[in-house]
Amino acid sequence: MTCIAFTRSVPQSLAQAELTHLERTPIDPVRARQQHDQYRSVIDSLGCSLRELPATPELADSVFVEDTAVVLDEIAIITRPGAESRRPETASVAEALGPLRSLAFIEAPGIMDGGDVLCLGQRIYIGRTPRTNVEGIEQFRAIVEPLGYAVYSLPVTGCLHLKSAVTPLDASTLLLNPAWIDRNAFADYRCIEVDPQEPFAANALWIDDQVLLPAAAPRTRERVEQAGLPVIPVEADELAKAEGGLTCCSLLVRD
Ligand code: GLY
Repeated sequence: MTCIAFTRSVPQSLAQAELTHLERTPIDPVRARQQHDQYRSVIDSLGCSLRELPATPELADSVFVEDTAVVLDEIAIITRPGAESRRPETASVAEALGPLRSLAFIEAPGIMDGGDVLCLGQRIYIGRTPRTNVEGIEQFRAIVEPLGYAVYSLPVTGCLHLKSAVTPLDASTLLLNPAWIDRNAFADYRCIEVDPQEPFAANALWIDDQVLLPAAAPRTRERVEQAGLPVIPVEADELAKAEGGLTCCSLLVRD
């Protein structure tokens, strides 16, 4: 597999990031940058080619690049983020992806965050959340169904994005938090549940047969390893205070 991983540096304004389900707590910017650097190093060590998007210090959530686009083999869909403060993030992402994919755009009144879009082969699950509405989902469907994808829309409760609640660990295994998503929607997959004390652990990042998990989730790590899947723990608790997880910090373009 070849893979390009787009990332964007931690902005000076991270402490003003959008928060939906978390209380605001102080963020140590130095520690957040160290954790982001470590995250990038791990991705680099897995053979992904890192590409840095232009820094946008005034855009508080701009490190969470996943939300700005959904990249498929045939096309990249540039989202229209649900939080108005995040909409200026997409222009530089469209510019970066333009040479790699043909582009399509979610347009008003549609809204969509990439964190709500879970791509499992030809199946694409999209969470209905305050960040992703039915108009956005129907626009997305019209773009990808002619390419052979099936789109399933499902409700998410209690967390920010669909991928806060469920992410793939390999082609047939999902890690999920059943408090936030209906496990029955994924009956065709082997499902591992997070430890109930580690609800945020469901946001894992699967790259090339390795699973990145938050270091703050040792119990869930044990469950995943017992299922035979290798885990790389990644310190990400400072970034998590801004309500961003491991998938949020990169935009992967796989070939
Ligand atoms: N702070 C991450 C988000 O709300 O998009």
